[in-house]
Amino acid sequence: MAKKILALLLALALIATFAACATKSTDDSSSASDVTDNAPTVDSGETFQIGIVQILEHPSLDDVRTSMIDELAANGYVDGDKISIDYQNAQGDQTNLNTIVQKFVSSNYDLIVAIATPSAQAAQGATDTIRIVFAAVTDPVGAGLVASLEAPGANITGTSDWISAAQLMGLAQQITPDIKSVGALYCLGEANSVSTVNDLKAWAEENGVEIVEAGFVNSNEVAQATSSLVGKVDAVFSPTDNTVAASMAIVADTLKEAKLPIYCGADSMVTDGGLASYGVNYPILGAETAKIVIEILNGANAGEVPVKTMEQLDIYVNTATAEAIGANIPEDILAQATIVSE
Ligand code: TRP
Repeated sequence: MAKKILALLLALALIATFAACATKSTDDSSSASDVTDNAPTVDSGETFQIGIVQILEHPSLDDVRTSMIDELAANGYVDGDKISIDYQNAQGDQTNLNTIVQKFVSSNYDLIVAIATPSAQAAQGATDTIRIVFAAVTDPVGAGLVASLEAPGANITGTSDWISAAQLMGLAQQITPDIKSVGALYCLGEANSVSTVNDLKAWAEENGVEIVEAGFVNSNEVAQATSSLVGKVDAVFSPTDNTVAASMAIVADTLKEAKLPIYCGADSMVTDGGLASYGVNYPILGAETAKIVIEILNGANAGEVPVKTMEQLDIYVNTATAEAIGANIPEDILAQATIVSE
């Protein structure tokens, strides 16, 4: 009986918890032929209604949004003139996400920009006719958003911030050599994180490194999942996980106290106290997202516009964290890195 209640509670937790841990919608029925082909183009002189949905506010996602809006404006798509932007942030809540995208759909907006994987999955579940441009989605194929990066299909395309776990761990081994075990800190419900952690596991297998799982389902469990790794691993790895990013200050404090390095998916997590990252430039990704939006407003079929991935990855290092945990950053890394220090 106790087991049954536990299973039920777990199931409820999985369904109702913190948004970023949301599971994918099962509505996959969209196909390219559903897309309205009489969509208006910019030359018609009307104002295009664009709904932007963002899972929560953290610096990387904010960079993506503001850079995208700036790039749109720089190309003549000024909010209040040629386009009208309705920006909504779900504050990390799945119910809010669904409410927001449903409102965009019932208002019959011309295009939806969905920032981060949970937002993109919610938008995809809400419409198979309105064009969707996602931004900063780690693994669009793994998250079930597109058929392939080259030919997304249906009414959806966008930008990806895929990073290489092997590259990040290569950096880790230069900063803190002799890593024999790595803790994987991530939200099990974030498809984006699961993909990168799978990449980490492949690297670990090849390099004879042990992975200690610290996956969680609920944002309330981040602190405990972090503590569970103390004394068990040589380093911690966290992908571009929206739930971890939102609690990064707590995570970083716990690990600093334990003198454990954390290698992170994104620069903002380093700014918030993580040790280092090998990641994407989010302002550039935001500008790339704007270019796709413009292409589609000009009549391109979303499903035929390839997903844009970022070729260039940059090193970010937090020197205050390095000092706090007694890590020595090699000179050649310092020379290439963007240094952040809270
Ligand atoms: N890649 C994440 C996703 O697919 C979104 C994201 C972008 C992110 N930058 C981040 C998450 C920084 C955490 C930290 O959902």
